[in-house]
Formats: sequence, structure tokens, C-alpha cells
Amino acid sequence: MTKNYAWWQTGIVYQIYPRSYQDSNGDGIGDLAGIATRLDYLKSINIDAVWLSPIYPSPMHDFGYDVADYIAINPLFGTMADFDHLLAELHQRDLKLILDLVPNHTSDEHAWFLESRSSRDNPKRDWYIWRDPAPDGGPPNNWLSFFGGPAWTFDETTGQYYLHQFDVHQPELNYRHPDVFPATLDNMRFWLDKGVDGFRVDVIWLMIKDEALRDEPLKPDYIEGTPLFSQFDHIYTQDVEGIHDLIREMRRLIDSYSDRVLIGEIYLPMQRQMNYFGQNNDECHIPYNFELILSPWQAQAVRTLVDTYEAALPDGAWPNWVLGNHDQHRVATRVGAAQDRVANMLLLTLRGTPTTYYGEEIGMQDGQIPLDKMHDPPAVNQPELAHEVGRDFERTPMQWDATPNAGFTDPDVEPWLPVAADYVTRNVEAQNTDPTSMLSFYRALTDLRRAEPSLHVGDYIAIDTNLDDIFAYVRSAPDADTFIIVLNFGPNAHTLDLSHIAVGATIAIATDRVRDGLIDMSSLEINGNEGLLLRASTLPSNE
Ligand code: GLC
Repeated sequence: MTKNYAWWQTGIVYQIYPRSYQDSNGDGIGDLAGIATRLDYLKSINIDAVWLSPIYPSPMHDFGYDVADYIAINPLFGTMADFDHLLAELHQRDLKLILDLVPNHTSDEHAWFLESRSSRDNPKRDWYIWRDPAPDGGPPNNWLSFFGGPAWTFDETTGQYYLHQFDVHQPELNYRHPDVFPATLDNMRFWLDKGVDGFRVDVIWLMIKDEALRDEPLKPDYIEGTPLFSQFDHIYTQDVEGIHDLIREMRRLIDSYSDRVLIGEIYLPMQRQMNYFGQNNDECHIPYNFELILSPWQAQAVRTLVDTYEAALPDGAWPNWVLGNHDQHRVATRVGAAQDRVANMLLLTLRGTPTTYYGEEIGMQDGQIPLDKMHDPPAVNQPELAHEVGRDFERTPMQWDATPNAGFTDPDVEPWLPVAADYVTRNVEAQNTDPTSMLSFYRALTDLRRAEPSLHVGDYIAIDTNLDDIFAYVRSAPDADTFIIVLNFGPNAHTLDLSHIAVGATIAIATDRVRDGLIDMSSLEINGNEGLLLRASTLPSNE
């Protein structure tokens, strides 16, 4: 019955940050050959698609998000042959591969930028956004970089400023120039022709900026202690008119191949996020939905956002949910270890495509990184805000086993980021055979999700429980078992009467991994910080 759904709807996406997954050559940095040694593991956790953060040649000022060549492999990560091998091995195991496309900006070492900056009349000059200084010699307008400081850097060679909303080494391409977008589409074709299953498009909502480069207004309320960047309303650099034309074109290209996916990174308020599905569902298949990351971790707040998101979805649009990525503090740290399983049960039982960030399946937490070991530009540029804006914490090496360096790299090598201190107890090997571990819990959830149509494609409906701590909902599909999910976001136990939803039910999966058996739904007991995934056995009669 799930035949009419695409793999990116029924499946689970798993994000790998290649620098941090598995090193195979002892340089302390993860690589493609390393990932290729972990495919059986990926298969064993029941994920369907791997998204790799950028693997292209890059001077690594932003760890690969500064691309110096879109159609080659960074020697740090391996060779094109390693890539082809990895792709073939993934496909052989029925796993998809999604690449990260970074079209908004290039590295300042990209050949296009080297030409562009070489002279004002170079044919590629206007492939980037150059402007004369303001009358006082300063930047052309008040735009700021996400990473701190102005979004403009003066270039001595030609006496103009260039735009970069991230690091100074990430000049922004000018998508108003007629030759730039075709060049990006060509780069996409290169990988699609190789058989790559789709792209996650980096900062897709930033690709067009105000043509007149107007100053951005300050928000009315100043919030003490927040970075200057967040005090402006970014109306001229984000979600600017024209962006949807570009995305529709990318989607047309994607759809000219069979069975590929277009995912967009979009941080916008929910209603505007919805526009990125496209008016006729002709833009992103998956406009990434970060609501669970940005929401307070409170049952009613989360219920409200899920219901609002469901209600806001355009006709025919498919939902998706994310708990973490390489830009956000890890979910286990954000919500706390006690709630981590509840969060993952939520992710894997909501309606829509879930994305798991590597390590979430073993409950990895943010690493402790001393200031002098931080690499991430926003933290390095703004040391006083390093903890808020730095992203090294969530990028520490994958914890495979209890040997020095956690099996990520050779024991005597210094990994590019320190391994988190808890690796000795929190690692794949230790959790693999422990039926009560987070990993076993994750596998049980992904296994059941795949087996049960109600969970991977069924309807969602919230249940009113009148308990502040509880978020409960039903997932059901025709001719399939119905599931009831009850999540306790608080530390106190509760008793619920859910007999109007199901008279009887059995525990399919519980966060504590020991509860099982038949449940009396008129007095369902749930412990503090517990999540229950129940299989309804007897539904109330429908008179
Ligand atoms: C995206 C990436 C982030 C990167 C930025 C600039 O937000 O996820 O890691 O720094 O774009 O490319």
C-alpha cells in the first residue's frame, strides 16, 4: 500500500558530517573510505538515505561550505574513485546518497572568484556582488555576516567591496547575472548523471538579495547579549523576490531524472517556510523544517507547533522533521539526557520524513571544546559568544568504541576535534548488544516505523489529554494497525484515560525498554520522562 510514496517520503535521512564520521588514513579527519567501512552499521539502524555535508575541494575556512571546485572530491576525503565506490556500495545496499550543494557562495579560492577579483572588467566580475565603498570609505550598506562583523570585505586589487554573508572567504555569487545559474545547474547535472539521489541545498533562501542593496532595518526590540546580527530584520538578504523562480528551475532539473530529491535548508517563520514547497508543489520536496530545534521543549508548545505545521502544509505537500544538524547544539544536550529518547520517539513517529544527525542514535551530546581548540569561524570571530554561536561542539567525532579516539581514528593520532569525554561508555560497540541501550531503542523505532504503514505514511491526529506534560497522538492508515504515541515531557508520572481512543493496547516500544504487555487504556500509567508507543488492539465501537 505504500507503493505510491517515494523513498524520500517513507524513508529516514541520516546526515553524516564527513570530517567526523570515520578516518581511514590516520590523518585525524574522516573520509569517504572511512564511511564506506560503516555501511553495514548504517544498514543496521534502518536508515534509507545518507546526506553528506560537503566533500568538495575547499580550503576549509567553513569546513567544506567554502567550495573551491563543485565537481571534484577534496583529497582530504579521498578521490573520485573513492566517491564512485561509496555510491555504488550504498546503492547496492539499497541506500540513497544525497549531496550538499552550496550554490549561494563559493570559496575565495574558486577559479570563478579568482577571475572575478582580478580586474573590474574581467568577464566574471559580476558573477559576484561587488560595490564601491560608501562615501566615507566604509562598506556599501549595513548588511552583516552571520559569522560576525560586516557582510562586506574591501579588496585592494580593484578598490571595491565584495559581499559575503558568512566568512570573508565565502564570496556570494550573483544570481542576477545570467550565466551564474546555468553554471550551478551544470554542476548539479554532473552529480545527477553519476547517479546521486538528490541534493540538500545550502542556505537556499538566501540566494537572491535586494537589487538596490538597501540597508536592513533594526528590529524594534533590542535583546541584550544577542549577536548584533540577530537584531536586524533581514528583509533584503533573505527570502527575497525571485528566489522561487530559481528553485522551480532546480526542481525541473531534478525531476528530469527519475526518483531524485530536492531538499532546501530554510530558516524562516513557518508560514513563509511553506512557500518553499512551491505553489504547485514544484519547488523543494523537503523544505527543511527546524521547528523542533527552535521550539522550547515543552509538551504543549511542541503539540501546538506540530498541529500548526500540519494545518499550514499546502495540499499535496509532505511534512518533514529534524532534531539536529551540524549547526545546532545536539538534541541530547538541548533537551537533556532524560528527554532524549522522548525526542527521538517523537521524531520517528510524527508524520513525515525524519532526519537523524549522526550520533543521535547513540545519544551523543555536545563535546566540551576549550576555546583554543575551537575552529568554527563564528566562535573564533566572536570569542565572547563562542558558546552560543560556535558549532564545534556538535561536530565531535563519532563514538564507535571505547578505545582511545573512540575508533574514529588511530589511537595515537590527534583528531581534528577532540572526542567527547563520554565516549568510553557512550559508543556504538557498548550499545550494540545491550537491549536497553539508546541504539537498541533507536533500531526498534526505525524497524517498527519501516514495517508499519501507519507510522511511515499514516495520518496524524493529536489527542487532548488536559495534562500539560503530555503530548499524545494517533497514527493510523487504512487496513493497518493503529498506533498511539504518548510522550511525557516532564519528570512526573501521570495516569490517563485514553479508552475513547482504544479500549485495549499493547506496548510496542517504551523509552525505558523494559515495559511491555497489555495496557488498560482507561488508566494508562506513564512514568516521568517516558514515551510509549502503543499498538491499539481493540478500538472503541463507532456508534
Ligand atoms: C549553512 C550550513 C552551515 C554553513 C553555512 C554557510 O547554514 O549548514 O554549516 O556555515 O550554510 O555555507
